[in-house]
Amino acid sequence: MTDYSVAIVGATGMVGREFIKILEQRNFPAEEVRLLASDRSSGKKLFVNHDEIVVEETTAESLKDIDIAFFSAGAEVSHHFAPIAAQAGAVVIDNSSAFRMEPEIPLVVPEVNPEDIGRHKGIIANPNCSTIQMVVALYPLHKVNPIKRIVVSTYQAVTGTGAAAVDELTAQTKQVLDGQTPVPHIYPHQIAFNVLPEIDVFMDNGYTKEEWKMVEESRKIMHADDLAISATCVRVPVFTGHSEAVNVEFTDIISTDEVERILSKAPGIRVLDDPTISLYPQPWSAAGSDEVFVGRIRQDASSLRGLVMWIVADNLRKGAALNAVQIAEEGIKRGWINAGGLR
Ligand SMILES: NC(=O)c1ccc[n+]([C@@H]2O[C@H](COP(=O)([O-])OP(=O)(O)OC[C@H]3O[C@@H](n4cnc5c(N)ncnc54)[C@H](OP(=O)(O)O)[C@@H]3O)[C@@H](O)[C@H]2O)c1
Repeated sequence: MTDYSVAIVGATGMVGREFIKILEQRNFPAEEVRLLASDRSSGKKLFVNHDEIVVEETTAESLKDIDIAFFSAGAEVSHHFAPIAAQAGAVVIDNSSAFRMEPEIPLVVPEVNPEDIGRHKGIIANPNCSTIQMVVALYPLHKVNPIKRIVVSTYQAVTGTGAAAVDELTAQTKQVLDGQTPVPHIYPHQIAFNVLPEIDVFMDNGYTKEEWKMVEESRKIMHADDLAISATCVRVPVFTGHSEAVNVEFTDIISTDEVERILSKAPGIRVLDDPTISLYPQPWSAAGSDEVFVGRIRQDASSLRGLVMWIVADNLRKGAALNAVQIAEEGIKRGWINAGGLR
């Protein structure tokens, strides 16, 4: 088997560290893993497969001779360095929002649109975490009974914001329990013992950018330009695992039995649905798992062709690093990503 020279840009972050774990757990065929971050982390040491690796600053030089570069260091870093890495011959799989809606750049969830990987020109975009878990669960149903409308409300964990937000929730929780009033730094308001219906910036249409990403990205991934979607994205004081309450309207009536049958056979999905024993997906238990969990499947009492479900996944794994590694694996399997990259 060919081995690849791999770089993780943002290796010291929440997603970057998950990348390291996932490459190890999946025995990714890497002959070298280069760990890159900002100059602040230069010289830090992290373990990959029991080898201690020194973190380097992300520069044009450190991105040379790389076959596959996983980027998770924010949109600004991706905008600057992803084209440099691609130009130097790497295939970039980018976790940021920098290129997701560029028409010529594929936006991929391997369970939904793996064939789009084949048209990459050096950069492939990894979707937003909330979008990924929703399309994994909905696409198998959409294929047999096209979806006309989705209304989704999310309950998103603080790891979705990064390492600093995890520290903030931890510190604020202690402060509140000690009777103190926390001062927010990362979020506009206290996140401990609270929920915030604001993720990313507000747009002129009243939605937030996070909500709009779910609309635009889902349409692009599912190749469904006319799909009507409305999202409300909410940050909750959960460390890991995004949850979503989703109302779906189909073209034709669909029974909950058929939905369960389709989802039980679909790749990457695990149905957990037995109200008699309070069995349903929870972020607590989904954290650390690779699957997208679906439960609370029921007919929408307000719509004949409607269905309601509850979707949960680990936002750092399927919502970020795992999906990106699966893109690389699929690209390698189909011959669209090669050692030597585009060099
Ligand atoms: N967390 C999620 O659920 C999730 C899901 C999907 C996508 N993403 C995306 O993944 C990216 C990272 O998220 P995260 O949660 O891992 O954030 P994080 O924990 O804050 O980590 C940020 C990483 O970026 C690096 N970095 C910052 N500035 C840099 C620079 N100028 N040059 C090179 N590296 C730099 C940091 O290095 P230092 O340690 O040296 O500062 C760190 O490794 C973001 O684009 C985010 O939108 C996150």
